[in-house]
Amino acid sequence: MARWVALCPSDELNDGQREVFGVDGVWIAVFNVGGVLYAIEDLCTHDGNVLAFDRDDRPSALVGHEIECPRHGGRFDIRNGKATRSPAEIDVRWFETRVVDNQIQVQVDA
Ligand code: FES
Repeated sequence: MARWVALCPSDELNDGQREVFGVDGVWIAVFNVGGVLYAIEDLCTHDGNVLAFDRDDRPSALVGHEIECPRHGGRFDIRNGKATRSPAEIDVRWFETRVVDNQIQVQVDA
């Protein structure tokens, strides 16, 4: 069973921005690309690095819809979590998103 969890007001994540939220012990990176929201687990499946920001808290490279891991350069498609470039081989967890009452929500397992 799944449930929706509110993360923040939708006007706090504008086009081109990203933010990371902790939900039930999982770090979820949410991206606004062209007004569309995408959410993946902020955990590289190659060797456990975070994805959305580098160690200096700068945004990691987003190439089209592919987030590039700042550690070894593996990439994941934020539209579906698919691993798209080596050394990342295993897809990253992906989450449904929606906006309800001006709140960004993600769907997580109950
Ligand atoms: S830890 Fe992300 S590509 Fe290696």
